[in-house]
Amino acid sequence: MIKVDISNVWGPLSLPDLLAVEKEVFDAHMTLSDRCGEGSDFLGWLDLPIEEPTEEICRIRSAAKRIRESSDVFVVIGIGGSYLGPRAAIELLQGANHNIGKGKGNPQIYFAGNTLSTRHWNELQRLLEGKDFSIAIISKSGTTTEPAIATRALRWLLERKYGTEGAKARTYAITDPVKGALRQMAAEEGWETFVIPPNVGGRYSVLTAVGLLPLAVAGIDPMEVMLGAVAAKKEYDLRSFENPVWLYVAARNLLYRKGKCIEIFESFEPGFKMMGGWWQQLFGESEGKDGKGIFPVSAEFTPDLHSLGQMIQQGERNIFETMVRFDPPEQTLTIGSDYKNLDGLNYLSGKTLDFVDEKAYLGTLAAHVDGGVPVITMDMGRLDNAKLGEMFYFFELACGISAYMLGVNPFNQPGVEFYKRNMFQLLGKPGYEV
Ligand code: PA5
Repeated sequence: MIKVDISNVWGPLSLPDLLAVEKEVFDAHMTLSDRCGEGSDFLGWLDLPIEEPTEEICRIRSAAKRIRESSDVFVVIGIGGSYLGPRAAIELLQGANHNIGKGKGNPQIYFAGNTLSTRHWNELQRLLEGKDFSIAIISKSGTTTEPAIATRALRWLLERKYGTEGAKARTYAITDPVKGALRQMAAEEGWETFVIPPNVGGRYSVLTAVGLLPLAVAGIDPMEVMLGAVAAKKEYDLRSFENPVWLYVAARNLLYRKGKCIEIFESFEPGFKMMGGWWQQLFGESEGKDGKGIFPVSAEFTPDLHSLGQMIQQGERNIFETMVRFDPPEQTLTIGSDYKNLDGLNYLSGKTLDFVDEKAYLGTLAAHVDGGVPVITMDMGRLDNAKLGEMFYFFELACGISAYMLGVNPFNQPGVEFYKRNMFQLLGKPGYEV
C-alpha cells in the first residue's frame, strides 16, 4: 500500500477539520462506486484492472513481439490522455534516457503527434533515417489535429519505405471500437486495432491498450502492471481514513478551502517527470471547471529547488506540496574520498548517494513546513511494474473522489474546445467560418 502522511499539514488544518469532512469523502467515494454522479457513463476505468489476460491483452503481447522483432524504432502518435500515460510509465520504469543503446529486438520508443512544432518533426525524421520502424496511432476521437497531422506524415514515410502492404503491417490503431475517423481509416486500410472503451475517457485510459501496447513494446509485461492495479482496486476500496486515498483527498480539499489553491507534485526521481505530467493532466482536466479547482503543478527535486525553491520557501502562501518518495534501488553509488578535498566533500566519503538524497528530502520537507507550506508525503515503496499499476489506479480513484467532493464532473473537459474552435476558425476549417 502507498503510505500517505499528512502530519506536515497540521497547522493550517486540524484533526477536527479532517474528521468533519469524513462524511463528505465517504459520500464522494459512494457516488463514484455506485456510479450515480455526473459523468458516470465514463467510469469504465473502474473495471479495467483484471486478473487474467483478456484476448485484447494477448493480442497486445503478440503485436508487441512483432514490433520488437521488426523495428529499431516504435513511434507512438497521440496527445493528452492518448500520450502522457505510456510516456510516463516507460520513463518512470526505464528512465528518461531509456532509448540509449536500444534497437531491433528492444526498439527505441519516440512520441509524436503531441505538438505542432516543425523542429520536433524534423528531429523525428532524422531519427528515423535508415531505421526500421512501426507506428501506433492513438486517438479516441480519431480527429484530434496534432496526431492527425503526425499520422499523415508518418504514414507517408512508412509507405515510401515499405510500400502499401509493408506499411499496413507496421501500423496499429488504438481508438473507439466503433466510431470516429481513425476507426474508419483502420478498417479501410486493414490495420490491426485495439480498443479504447467508449466509457473510458482519455486521461483514465492508461490501463487500456493506450498504455499497455507501448509498455509491452518497451519490454514491460502488461499483466504485471495490471496486477498492481488489481491489488490497488481491492486495497483502496476501504471506506475510512485508513485508506491513504481518503487521506490524500481530504487533505488536499481541506487545504484548498483554506486558500491553498496550488498543489506542487514533486519527486526526487528524474524518471518521474512525465508521471508528474500525467498527474497534472488527470487532476487539471478533471477538477478545473466551474470556476473551481486546485492548480496542479509538477516539479522535480532537487533540480527545481534551484529554481522554484525560492518561491516555495518565501513566495505567496497559497501553495501546498505533495512529495513522492520511492525506496532506493539495489545498486547504489558510494561517494569516494579525494586526498586534496578541494571541494570539501570528504565529510561525505563512504556515504551513499541515497543517504545524501534522503537528507536533502528531509531538509527540504522541514524547510518548507517551517516556511508555512503544508506538505503531504507519499511513500510509494519499491518501484516495479506492479507499483506502476497501483499508482495509476490510486491517483485515478483519488481524482474521481476529489472532484466529486469539489462538486464538479471529473470526466468531462468542455474548456478544451475553446482554443480548438479559434484555431479551426483561423485555419479556415470547413464549418468554422466566422
Ligand atoms: O483526457 C482527454 O480526454 C484528452 O486529453 C484526450 O485524451 C486528448 O484530447 C486526445 O484526444 P483523442 O484521444 O480523442 O485524440
